Amino acid sequence: MRVIIEKTAEQAELRTAGIMADLVRHKPNAVLGLATGSTPVKVYRELVRQHREAELDFSQITTFNLDEYVGLGAQHPQSFRYFMQEQLFNHINIDHAATHVPDGRALDFSAHCQQYEQRILDAGGIDLQLLGIGVDGHIAFNEPGSSLGSRTRLKTLASETIRQNKKFFPGDEQVPRLALTMGVGTILETRSCLLLATGAHKASAVRSMVEGPVTAQITASALQLHREVIVIVDEEAGGWLERRDYYAEVDECHQLLETGQLRALGIGNQ
Ligand code: PGA
Repeated sequence: MRVIIEKTAEQAELRTAGIMADLVRHKPNAVLGLATGSTPVKVYRELVRQHREAELDFSQITTFNLDEYVGLGAQHPQSFRYFMQEQLFNHINIDHAATHVPDGRALDFSAHCQQYEQRILDAGGIDLQLLGIGVDGHIAFNEPGSSLGSRTRLKTLASETIRQNKKFFPGDEQVPRLALTMGVGTILETRSCLLLATGAHKASAVRSMVEGPVTAQITASALQLHREVIVIVDEEAGGWLERRDYYAEVDECHQLLETGQLRALGIGNQ
């Protein structure tokens, strides 16, 4: 797990968008795993900006979203499909048939979830999965206690998640109690993951994910088993990390390598 600590949320968001944009440029037919929530909003804004101002081309890109509320259709303003249309898909040149979000109105949940997994396989698997983290340490809607081998399925939301997400539902409207979500096992099979967390309210979850034991009680900790994960945090979300100095050294070394400054790494000095 590579941990990058940026000073501000904005820098963390731009770095995240930069990594996604690099992939889109280098692999124009990449399969992206996407996330919803407050955290990725500015990441998507930056991708839209690069599409408009820097010719970032999504015409061959395929996407799979992590999850969807059960009961909400694409026209519901709080559905994740609606969110994705508003925040990203309507503003870039992506083929809408190549964007996938679980269908919260599917009648046969189990068949739909199996089909979702099959579609991911048929597309060749996910190259880069964008993730957020819940304050209870969940990834996607894999709430504490979810099997670390779980696949896309129906999930009951934890009361903490319902409380956190109430801010998106106006007035008396209830947050759905059920969701369809990719499983932890599905996420572990992606080729790479990019997890973004910002704000002091995420500091405890981030610490548990990176430095705690692997446990189904913090499903994000399963990412310790993934071969390629980058965690990008701002100083607040990274504030509880014990080994933050080391993570900064690793990031510095990566940047020196990437920019070919080998002598600064002691390579070729002898
Ligand atoms: P947030 O949600 O981005 O709205 O904080 C993250 C999550 O629950 O995964």
